[in-house]
Amino acid sequence: MCGIVGYIGQQQAAPILLDGLSKLEYRGYDSAGVAVFDGDGISVNKARGRLEALYNKIDGGNTVSGSMGIGHTRWATHGEPSDVNAHPHLSRSGRFAVVHNGIIENYIALKKRLISKGFEFISDTDTEVVAHLFEYYYKGDIIETMIKVIQKVEGSYALGVLCSDYPDQFVAVRKSSPLIVGLGQGENFIASDVTAILKYTREIYRLEDNEIVVLKKDGVKIYNTDKEEIQKETNTINWDVSAAEKGGYEHFMMKEMEEQPKALRDTISPRIKDGRVILDDVSLTPEYVKNINTIHIVACGSAYHVGMVGKYIIEQMTRIPVNVDIASEFHYRDPIMSDKDLTIVISQSGETADTRAALDRAKEKGSRILAIVNVVGSAIANAADDVIYTWAGPEIAVATTKAYSTQLAVIYLLALHMADALGKISADEYADMIEEIQSLPDKVEEILKNKDNIQYLASKFFSSKSIFFIGRNLDYAVSLEGSLKLKEISYIHSEAYAAGELKHGTISLIEDGTLVIALATGGRLFDKTVSNMKEVKARGAVVLGLTTNEHPNIHDAADYVIEIPKTHELLLPSLAVVPLQLFGYYVASLKGCDIDKPRNLAKSVTVE
Ligand code: F6R
Repeated sequence: MCGIVGYIGQQQAAPILLDGLSKLEYRGYDSAGVAVFDGDGISVNKARGRLEALYNKIDGGNTVSGSMGIGHTRWATHGEPSDVNAHPHLSRSGRFAVVHNGIIENYIALKKRLISKGFEFISDTDTEVVAHLFEYYYKGDIIETMIKVIQKVEGSYALGVLCSDYPDQFVAVRKSSPLIVGLGQGENFIASDVTAILKYTREIYRLEDNEIVVLKKDGVKIYNTDKEEIQKETNTINWDVSAAEKGGYEHFMMKEMEEQPKALRDTISPRIKDGRVILDDVSLTPEYVKNINTIHIVACGSAYHVGMVGKYIIEQMTRIPVNVDIASEFHYRDPIMSDKDLTIVISQSGETADTRAALDRAKEKGSRILAIVNVVGSAIANAADDVIYTWAGPEIAVATTKAYSTQLAVIYLLALHMADALGKISADEYADMIEEIQSLPDKVEEILKNKDNIQYLASKFFSSKSIFFIGRNLDYAVSLEGSLKLKEISYIHSEAYAAGELKHGTISLIEDGTLVIALATGGRLFDKTVSNMKEVKARGAVVLGLTTNEHPNIHDAADYVIEIPKTHELLLPSLAVVPLQLFGYYVASLKGCDIDKPRNLAKSVTVE
């Protein structure tokens, strides 16, 4: 959701800005723009639509000269996607150019005030207010102006600001929106995330809220809001550059699905030593675990679906009650909780605004916060009491796959750790579970080797108007993710239902030929789900059953079958989700959809 890149150095800025923006395309956007200082003034170029439109407009950056600039990909919130609403925005005199990620919540009041002072607005955006505020408060000192502006604006922001009075430096700041500073040799950068600058440097500063950065080509200084310089530690990024490249795959999504065995190994292996779960990252002592009253899991989208699986797993293994909430609902419903509760927040990006707000709400209520996060040093990781990182590497495709799988793996480790602390699991069961968790990467690999059947099934059903997913308990929780994967990238309407709930309304939607994907992986509820499959089949549905190779009799109720390897019943979601991801992918591919960048979606949802 909006991407920012900024550059100062010896090279031409525009091609570097375009290159950086191309790495941020995955975040979701509908227009793009760059502002470059050429020694005389700031030139701005913007274009609605794909980055390619901007690229063509400025010939890959060759028509814009200057070695300092800022660039932006905009995901529209205030005002339609258009050239005029695209960033950067200029102040009245053209002295300031601003790029912004986030939302200025009090922009209407600020806009009225600026209009009363004679400012004219040409866009519908909240960001233009910031550009004019810079002009309004400017008395010759850019840092003081930045301090004044951030004291006036409310909401979330990552800002990059050029000022034509400062030909050798530009400034940036962030609050509740991501922004990092890249430190090169004779050149420095800002970016919404490291993928944009990985090609140029691995040394970065992670900024805290309202730390103001002044970037020159040969140095970077950081100030607090009292204009005092502060010293910060640099971080070295150890991601491989290829981790953020497609590496021969047609889509990042396929690459990331294929990376799941490795991502699972990287997440699981360092946390199992001598047959025991070792969560070095957190301090969940047995005393603490014994005193937990309720666990709340809060997240959005697929991360919420991990929470749905987590509820079944954690309750089953620990007998601690677990509430799962959609973060945007949790935040506004005054949840009942106490300091004896543990809140688990799950987020790939660590920047999701709703999840962050829910975290703050749980903290206010005295709950301890444990975050399961993929991006190191992200806002949610920083705000939590404990963090368990998923070592999935950068996830670029908007539709999550490897982050979901590694989040689930962390849930298993956590549940096992807590069950052991509570004495709820025997030594044999514990050892069995460890062995099965360790075997998950190989089993996922096995599923990925047999993609042909799923591709064939996708070819049979890619023209469906509507597809239903059903399952019970854990299978229901996985159905939610299967349905989301399909609908978000293929645009086919899809719903997931608890199989037993069908008769209470939904079954009326079943017509001749409606595809129902039925998950019946576990033993305990297998027969019950098979009955539901027969019910829909009797009403004309075509049934695709997903089960383990232990249940050949599913063929009686299903027209088509996908088989997954068997494992411990509680771990089956890790395997069941993979064919569903592949099914969504192949359906979307056959429909010619933009798989990595589905319409209207953004990877990192940094606004509420
Ligand atoms: C769907 C998907 C989203 C995210 C959700 C939360 O494929 O990726 O539903 O899961 O937006 O994002 P994070 O995990 O970054 O908080």
